Order: sequence, then structure tokens, then C-alpha cells
Amino acid sequence: MTTPAIQSKKNLAGLAPPPQKPASLLATVRATKGNFFEIIPLAAYEQPYYLWKSMLGSVLMVNDPEGVRRVLLDNVANYPKNEMEIKFFSAMFGEGLLSAPGPKWRAHRKVMAPSFGTRTVESYAPAMVETTVAFAHQWDALPDLAEMDIAAQMKALTLKIICRTMFSSDAEELAAHAGEALEFAQASLEFGLLDILPLIGPRRIKRKEEAIRTHFKGMDAAIYRLIGEREKIRHEAPQDFLTRLVAAKDPDDGVGLNATEVRDEVITIFMAGHETTAVTMTWVWYLLSQHPGEEATLHQELDTVLGGRIPTVEDLPNLPYTRMVIEEAMRVYPPAPGISMREAKEADELCGFKVTPGQQVMVSPWIMHRHRRLWDDPERFDPTRFAEGSSEKRPRFAYLPFGGGPRVCIGATLAMTEAILILAVLAQRFRLRLKDGHDVKLQTRITLRPKNGMMTILERRRPAPARGDATI
Ligand code: HEM
Repeated sequence: MTTPAIQSKKNLAGLAPPPQKPASLLATVRATKGNFFEIIPLAAYEQPYYLWKSMLGSVLMVNDPEGVRRVLLDNVANYPKNEMEIKFFSAMFGEGLLSAPGPKWRAHRKVMAPSFGTRTVESYAPAMVETTVAFAHQWDALPDLAEMDIAAQMKALTLKIICRTMFSSDAEELAAHAGEALEFAQASLEFGLLDILPLIGPRRIKRKEEAIRTHFKGMDAAIYRLIGEREKIRHEAPQDFLTRLVAAKDPDDGVGLNATEVRDEVITIFMAGHETTAVTMTWVWYLLSQHPGEEATLHQELDTVLGGRIPTVEDLPNLPYTRMVIEEAMRVYPPAPGISMREAKEADELCGFKVTPGQQVMVSPWIMHRHRRLWDDPERFDPTRFAEGSSEKRPRFAYLPFGGGPRVCIGATLAMTEAILILAVLAQRFRLRLKDGHDVKLQTRITLRPKNGMMTILERRRPAPARGDATI
């Protein structure tokens, strides 16, 4: 493991010290085009809570593990998702898990949970690995030192993986429609504090809603057709997520999902399930390119444990450093930097702050993961923070890339398994260098992504194996 002293000199993109003072209204509006969180003042990173105030309203940022625990778990019923945000998500996903009202959310979560359990996720691993190995073959065909936008590459890869794992044989057809529709939806995602404010929010959301509906028409038609086909061939249908959704019955009332509900969950999984993992991997590659010591440690683990072999799910426990790199990357650049805005229903107290009904409440992994009371030298990339035994010493809600409580990410196990396998396949064969002069800028569009992509140079670590070989 490398010495922290060397790394702390690195200037990582978007990690300048937080500003001392709150930003002006103009600067706030401007910041919504980039990474809004960069304008939040230092006090938020030092105190248990921070009240963000402007002419347009106020948001309570809860920055203390106990306070977060109260919002997301202990008193979760008092903090439903903000209504405007629900409307925004429904415009895109209908009433999928991210935006369904309480009773529907509960029933659907129960129906969907088995598709994301550890056993089921393990059964997806071969498809994840195969897809990634095929991707490595495409990289092999590129000339030496090829230039590539690794953000776009990781998006293409994770989209293929989500299609194959969730929709098996129909993957290709769906991927073609999904790529285009989701790209548009992502591009129009500028959801931020402005969208929840009463004066501005509704008009902004309506405009987005109309545009998104138009762009989702092709994908909707494809999904409805697939649902119809699966219903017809029930017994021979592939045992994947789509079949499970179509066949699902609530164990209590025996009621299943109708076609619209299935469509909404499919879109939700597409959207929530590939962009987040893609940005995670993009930041992993960026951080490795800036930290040769950590990169060498990763290569050493992969070479020792796998020695050029294609990984399987059984290898995962033997790749702790690979996991640590991903966990630390999600701390430094949380893929979802601000967990959905919540709205207090009744009066409450959070970290000594008297919450009144209607108060907007935000939990931000971006702030929590850099909080001065929780992390030592938080701007430093150091995977050893996640070494065995270290994570257990931290409060559960200090680190929350996947959220927490009943609304915790349903795809967390899937995402971690996928990220480790992608890294284990690709980092055995390739290393990526940041292209000279590429200016990495952060942008929050629900996910935290590099604003102008991430231009990298592809280097080979070892020559390509013969096709069909079990090595990478
Ligand atoms: C590194 C990758 C991922 C990250 C960082 C991530 C992060 C999150 C976070 C923070 C939430 C909670 C939002 C809230 O409380 O408001 C969430 C919810 C959710 N995620 Fe993920 N996610 C990832 C991957 C996935 C994958 C792979 C899937 C599915 C295949 C997925 C599906 C969902 C769904 C459906 C929800 C809503 C859960 C509910 O409200 O019941 N996510 N995710």
C-alpha cells in the first residue's frame, strides 16, 4: 500500500476546499449547470447540519450520521420524498420504484426484491463477465494508445450488462431503443434545488415531462411488445427479471403488476441501473490514472489472484483491494451526490434543529463523504479506508453511496458485483491514462458525471489472448 503523504499533493478534479461563504443567488443558479455541491460552504462539512437559505426557500442539509439515520430509517415515515421530485421522476419513469406512491412502492419492492438478492445476482455474474470480455476484445481491435472517452465507453458497457442480466435474449433490441431514450433523458436532467422550489419548479418539470415523453415512445412500444410476448410464452420464457415482473404476484393479496406497472419498473431499472454504475467506473478509471501507487497495488492483486484468468463470482472474496478501490471511488465521487430531497410531514428535531412541517430536508453523500468530523484528509483518495475492520468502526450512515433505510438502493449488490468484475476483467489487460490537457469538470445530473466526458489514452498491460482462450 502506498504512503498517504504522496497522494495528498494530488489535485483531484472538483475537490477544491469548500468555500468559506454561501454563494450569491446568481452563483447558485450558475452552479446548477455544473456540480451544485461545490458551492456549499465549509460549515456544512464541519457541523451536524446546515440550513441552505435563499430568497427562493430553504433546505436543511443533515450532515451527521445520527441525523441521517433518523431521516432515512428511524423516523422515515415523517420524511417522504419531496413531491416535486416525485413528479419529476414520474415524468420519466411513471410509477416505478423511484417515484411510486407509498403502498404501491411497498408492494413492488417486495415483488422485485428476489431479482436483486445475493443468489440471483451471483447468477448474473457470467453474463456480466462475458459482456465485459467481449468489450475487451473490442478494445483489442483498437490501435495502440487509442484515445477514448471512457465515460461513454462505460455507459455503453453497463447498458449492455443491464440489458443482458435483466432482459436476457431480448437485450439487443431493448438496448438500441434504451440508449437513445436514456441519453436524451439524461441530457435533460438538470434536477436540482431549483426544481423543488414552488415558484419555479412546476413549470420546469412540465417542460421536461413533455420532451421526455416524446423521446420514450420507441422504447415504450418495444417494452409493451416484449411484455405481451412474455405473457404468451409464460412457461418457456427466459427466467429473467422481465419474466419475474410479468409473473409476479403479491404474496398477501395475489395481485400482479399490469403492463403499465411493468413498463414503469423496466424503465426505472434501466435508468437507475446503468448510468450510476457507469459513472462509478468512470471515476474509478480517473482516480487510478492519478494514483500510480494504488493502481500498482490493484494490478498486483489482480495478477496474483487471477493471473490472466477470466474472473468468476467465486473470485470476489479474494479481491478485497479491487473492492476497496471501488468503495473509495464512490466516497470521493459519490455517483448519487444528493439522495432524493425529503419533506418533513410533522415537526421533529434533527441534530438539535427544530424541524417544522414542510421543511425540505436533504441528505448528501457528497457532504457526508467529505465531512471533517468523519474522515481524515477527506479530499485524499485512499482505498485503505475500506480495509477489513476499518469500515466497521465508522457509523453506518457516514458512508452512503447507496442511500439507507427502506429506500436503500435495490441494486447495490448487483452494482458492486458488476463493478468489481468489470475492473477485474479490464484492469488485467489495460490501463488508462488521462489525455494530456483534458480538463475534468464535474456535473450533477442526479448522478455525478464528468461534464465533458473523460478523454483517456488506452494502454495495454499484456498482449491479447487467442480468441476462445480462458485468459484475458
Ligand atoms: C454504483 C451504482 C449505484 C448507485 C451509487 C446507486 C445509488 C442509489 C441511491 C443513493 C438510491 C437511494 C435514493 C433515495 O433514497 O432517494 C438508489 C435507489 C435505487 N436504485 Fe440504485 N444505485 C446504483 C445502482 C443501481 C442498480 C444497478 C440498480 C438496478 C439494477 C439500481 C436501482 C435502484 C432503484 C430501483 C432504486 C429505488 C429504490 C427504492 O426507492 O425502493 N441502482 N440507488
